Amino acid sequence: MTPSAAALNSMKVTVDHSMKGQVLGTSGANDYRKVLADAVGMIRPELMAVERLLQSGLRVDSVPVQTMLEHVRELGGKRLRPCLTLLCAKAAGGITDETIRLAASVELVHTATLVHDDVIDDSDFRRHRPTLHTVHGVSRSILLGDWLFTHAYDLANQGESTLPGRWIASAAKKVCEGEIEQGALGGRFDITINEQLDVLGRKTGSLCRVACALGAWSAGASTVTCEHFGAFGEYLGVAFQVFDDWLDVWGSQQSAGKTLGTDLDGFKPTIPTLRALEVGFAGEEKMELLEALERRDRQALGRLKQALMNTDAGEYTLKYAHRLVEQAQGFLLPYASQSSFCQQSMEGLLRLAEAAANRAA
Ligand code: IPE
Ligand code: IPE
Ligand code: MG
Ligand code: MG
Ligand code: MG
Repeated sequence: MTPSAAALNSMKVTVDHSMKGQVLGTSGANDYRKVLADAVGMIRPELMAVERLLQSGLRVDSVPVQTMLEHVRELGGKRLRPCLTLLCAKAAGGITDETIRLAASVELVHTATLVHDDVIDDSDFRRHRPTLHTVHGVSRSILLGDWLFTHAYDLANQGESTLPGRWIASAAKKVCEGEIEQGALGGRFDITINEQLDVLGRKTGSLCRVACALGAWSAGASTVTCEHFGAFGEYLGVAFQVFDDWLDVWGSQQSAGKTLGTDLDGFKPTIPTLRALEVGFAGEEKMELLEALERRDRQALGRLKQALMNTDAGEYTLKYAHRLVEQAQGFLLPYASQSSFCQQSMEGLLRLAEAAANRAA
């Protein structure tokens, strides 16, 4: 376990009930769009270069493959990870051609994981469109996901150093491990929040970590700085996923642009459900409920859904995500006053971290 993961696992959160209802207002969700727009404003030409590289790379001379790639090309997405790579590079010394290539590579890994994730989660919508497998079928979508992963490694390996390829491969393996672990934990609501955080660290934290670390690396930052920027990304990623698990229960499908409710439907333990079980049930009743959930009993799921609404699970989850954001920011703060780091980009990164846990999509 990395030092950051150990710290992550020792985190305790208490809910301040006076915050009920104030944690995420509509204005917060709107702010997110503004924060992202401001951040993008700082790196607009470079982000456009990433976009061009993504678009030009998604072309092949096979008609059935190209038909699927057209679907992917039109999908878009928030481009959070490329923004992180570019801003980290800008903060740590400057964006280079290599930064742009690596930002595109990370986004391709992310897109590949989403194609596979939508098959696993049986999700019909993604980025406001039908998912790839609902249009082109499961078998071909798995293969296209593999194509996207491979294309990502191809891009990562076009520089002189082998480091980016190795870092990206290692992060992609962690994402797969996280998804497999999550599948293995289906119906297992007896796990601890720390075990759950370990899964989130792999499936989402690892790619955000590498997005930030590679940004800093491409700008010539020291190993220690790359590690700090990477730890910032990892915590931001886990906060992003914790918030995503909140959105899955309480978010609006229309705003999110993707199928929600799949965590519960798939009997996946999440921070909200673990909290609801912790405070909503005790003794024999809890034991029976846990056993029924492990058997994937739909009635037991109904009781868990009720507990989500009747306990502090929602506020607890938001508070948890915000604590992770603060921890993420803690890794960057020592750099925020150093003149050799671009202060505007540092500010953008700190605000992006906040937005990761305060968004509608
Ligand atoms: C979705 O990521 C998957 C999670 C890690 C929760 P994003 O919300 O960044 O997806 P896009 O790229 O904007 O569609
Ligand atoms: C998936 O998590 C995260 C990945 C690493 C692919 P989710 O399954 O919660 O993501 P969404 O909600 O479908 O975007
Ligand atoms: Mg999913
Ligand atoms: Mg999933
Ligand atoms: Mg989700």
